[in-house]
Amino acid sequence: MYRYDEFDARFVRERVAQFRDQVGRRLNGSLTEDEFKPLRLKNGVYLQLHAYMLRIAVPYGTLSSRQLRQLALIGERYDRGYGHFTTRQNLQFNWPKLRDIPEILDLLADVEMHCIQTSGNCIRNVTADHFAGVAQDEIEDPRPTAELIRQWSSLHPEFSYLPRKFKIAVTGAEHDRAVIKAHDIGLRLRRHPDTNAVSYEVSVGGGLGRTPMIGKVVRDYLPKADLLAYLEAIMRVYNLEGRRDNKYKARVKILVHEIGVEEFTRRVEEEFARLDGPSVNADPAEVARIATYFTPPTYEVLPAVSRVLEATKATNPTFARWVEVNTVPHKAPGYAALTISLKPIGQAPGDATSEQMRLVADLAEQYSHDELRVTHAQNLVLPHVRQRDLFAIWQKLGEAGLASANVGMITDIISCPGLDYCALATARSIPIAQAIQHRFADAERQREIGELNIKISGCINACGHHHVGHIGILGLEKRGIESYQITLGGDATENAAIGEILGPGLAAEDVPDAIERIVNVYVEARQGNESFIDAVRRLGLGPFKAAFQEVAHAVA
Ligand code: HEM
Ligand code: SF4
Repeated sequence: MYRYDEFDARFVRERVAQFRDQVGRRLNGSLTEDEFKPLRLKNGVYLQLHAYMLRIAVPYGTLSSRQLRQLALIGERYDRGYGHFTTRQNLQFNWPKLRDIPEILDLLADVEMHCIQTSGNCIRNVTADHFAGVAQDEIEDPRPTAELIRQWSSLHPEFSYLPRKFKIAVTGAEHDRAVIKAHDIGLRLRRHPDTNAVSYEVSVGGGLGRTPMIGKVVRDYLPKADLLAYLEAIMRVYNLEGRRDNKYKARVKILVHEIGVEEFTRRVEEEFARLDGPSVNADPAEVARIATYFTPPTYEVLPAVSRVLEATKATNPTFARWVEVNTVPHKAPGYAALTISLKPIGQAPGDATSEQMRLVADLAEQYSHDELRVTHAQNLVLPHVRQRDLFAIWQKLGEAGLASANVGMITDIISCPGLDYCALATARSIPIAQAIQHRFADAERQREIGELNIKISGCINACGHHHVGHIGILGLEKRGIESYQITLGGDATENAAIGEILGPGLAAEDVPDAIERIVNVYVEARQGNESFIDAVRRLGLGPFKAAFQEVAHAVA
């Protein structure tokens, strides 16, 4: 795991001291809220419906036990005993008091964390595959790349006032678990077919929000050593040419769309050729230094399949199901990567109480080389678990209400905070997620349905990724009444796609019925083991639309 050097530590402390002074001036009235706003946004502090909200960066979703324990402490002492993990692999606190925030930032600095660049028109927290370093289909761990970008982009003087926010995601695997195609820049580590050299496929112009777009490839094989110079060229073209006249047209996706990907690529390549690459690219010694922080832990030499695990599974079907659904194979024989679902039926998706955070931190320390991950699907991961320890972990998670076997299933819903907390929301999203979870709570039914991703946003900004949900739900407001638009066929993987709208908006209470009808069409029409999304692709929208219309009519 990356550790702060002296410079990092001093810088973060100085920033806290500066913000403490700014908060003091806000509290004694010498700064108005308007004057204070740009200062707080530099430190991840938003003003929401009921309170200030603090967004904490979790770089590429990697946490240590010590860090998670500190988050638990902050939640308990300064919030309401819980925190909310987000689709950007970050953590948000919804109820901190402004006067306490400097203290919270100091507690974060104690464990090498901060909130810088979690808001504003800058390069935000870099996200990555949550199975980085352990996935069997991985070519290279994406985190050294993500850390390099984090260092390069932190307080980058040229890119601190971009036309709009900027999000970068990195994956090192064949299968995209980091939704790279919905980011302003998406990077995929891949081998060149002729030289076998590890290089980057670079995509630009993905994004969700009111104009969803899938990123387009601008370079198939960028040599690793050229990364920062190439990123700098992209950022410079965007910074100079992105639209500053209209906030809704300011993201890089709009520039790419307006001038076309060929012209955008031409301008980037021209800038890349012009700039002095060696002065921008990272020193290879520094790249090597960063990479050492991500060397895998020393694994025990174990047989590929644990006999203890197999025997326990044979006698306990509930446990066996949990292992089947919530774990994936690991690079190291005898190990597994375990996803802990933060989606127990009826709980706000992504919320964890301080006690739950502490338990997970303890489990990571005892069983997973002290390491954890946050997933963009708002779950947690213990990346390095011996298969034979899974039963003990399952029992402990069960006592804390964290043993739901639903990862990737219909109840593993992504949801933004919506009208429960967010000042921009046009509708609720958490209660809709809860209603759907209740409808499909039966474990057997979930198993029968198989993999199905529902994603919900409480407004057009799409924080809940609804466009790329197999089923997407967007909460809108029509003449003072909440209305829910359903989309079908979105995909967040390497087959990234934006879902299509099925029909008119529904009332909140009709959403579970509509979902049920859509699911029934699939269950009846699927061929063999065909997944929901594959069936939607094969069948097209037609049959689903027809089923959906029955509910839409009933409301009208
Ligand atoms: C609570 C206060 C929040 C505010 C005020 C807020 C604001 C916004 C806005 C204005 C956009 C649209 C930006 C654009 O299209 O240019 C956006 C996008 C997004 N936000 Fe949030 N958000 C909030 C919370 C969250 C949360 C809780 C999550 C994660 C669950 C999140 C993750 C995202 C993501 C993934 C996107 C879309 C990706 C993209 O930028 O293209 N945000 N947010
Ligand atoms: S999608 Fe809208 S309602 Fe949901 S968190 Fe984002 S801004 Fe708020």
